[in-house]
Amino acid sequence: MKTTTFLLMCGVVLSFSQAQSEGEETTVEEEHVELFTTPTTRLAAATSDFGYNLFRSLASRDTTTNVFLAPISVSAALTQLSMGGSELAERQLFRALRFHTLQDPQLHNTLKDLLASLRSPGKGLSIAARLYLARRLRLNQEFLALVEQQYGVRPKALPVGGKDLKEINDWVSQETGGKVQRFLAKPSSRNPSVNTVSAAYFKGRWVTRFSNSGVMEEFQVDGAAPVRVPMMQQDNYPVKMGADSDLSCTIAQIQMQNDVSMFIFLPDEVMSNMTLLEESLTAEFVQDLSMTLLPAQVSLTLPTLRLSYSTDLLPLLSDLGLTDWMENPQLEKISTQAAKLTSVNHKVIMETAPEGDQYPGAMSTPNHLSYRVDRPFLYLIRDEASGALLFIGRVVNPKDLRI
Ligand SMILES: *[C@@H]1O[C@H](CO)[C@@H](O)[C@H](O)[C@H]1NC(C)=O
Repeated sequence: MKTTTFLLMCGVVLSFSQAQSEGEETTVEEEHVELFTTPTTRLAAATSDFGYNLFRSLASRDTTTNVFLAPISVSAALTQLSMGGSELAERQLFRALRFHTLQDPQLHNTLKDLLASLRSPGKGLSIAARLYLARRLRLNQEFLALVEQQYGVRPKALPVGGKDLKEINDWVSQETGGKVQRFLAKPSSRNPSVNTVSAAYFKGRWVTRFSNSGVMEEFQVDGAAPVRVPMMQQDNYPVKMGADSDLSCTIAQIQMQNDVSMFIFLPDEVMSNMTLLEESLTAEFVQDLSMTLLPAQVSLTLPTLRLSYSTDLLPLLSDLGLTDWMENPQLEKISTQAAKLTSVNHKVIMETAPEGDQYPGAMSTPNHLSYRVDRPFLYLIRDEASGALLFIGRVVNPKDLRI
């Protein structure tokens, strides 16, 4: 992994020194805060790295499209699946899930606790993760009970003949408070054996509200005419900011409620191919980055994000080193018959609204620094307490976003 230096833009320095001269006791965090030291935060880092790997794999399939994922829900589903494997199968899955370095004998309990804390209502995230298994496999009831006991959700035998569609969609809807509808658009294909279902709904709630919303503004699109999309705008908005000269992008961290924040990576150029940036993303990179960002008051303009995205992640698993495992998944604790993973369906919905508890501070002088997200960008939503990656996305054309 390459090392990156963060150069402060002079604008940030200016507004930073201005904040100080106004008597605010702001001190730059010089010390390196080690976040990933407890079993929970180390697991959060590992599962985030799985998420970045999965995102890279998905994003590189087509560099010209919008892409979104809630990797923690995929990780939760695949972890349930790992409980049904032989020792070798578990090791292979753990490596892909990045659990292999943790040496945590209580791994499943640690994950259960992490998921519970991420689901606390104020964070705005609901996650659904479950296994659906073909009834013809003659399922091992002990396995079903084990997963239920550990994760509070019992793997479900799939009814035959297209009824799976309603069954799965109803469950996902119920788990996400009715927000994720139509999880599957059509009955699962061919000859389903083992399906993992993962879904997430995220409602972004800012700490500081935006006063202007729904203003139609131009968004530049790579290789096409600009589009007009609704944007949120606010002057004197408190963010943390920095610039990365190697990656040619500016980064802003925006505070959300209950210790969640959004990181935006805005390339200097109008460019949908963000391969270079995508390749840098790891839990440690984002953590180190967050330590270098400095507080600033900016005029902030952000597209109103309302999006829905669904995909089958199965073809990506070979990129995560699971080619051999897919050939011979050894799911012997699920059934004595040969069980195979036949789909990794994933659907996410995310919304941001202009509301927030706090009003931006009044400033006598206009902002000399503006942060306008009006061209393709990458963003991630991170739980600050644990460092867990909740959501990641690349927006190349917000006109194509739909719920
Ligand atoms: C995207 O960018 C990377 C590196 O910046 C480059 O190697 C790759 O060829 C580009 N892909 C496309 C499809 O342009």
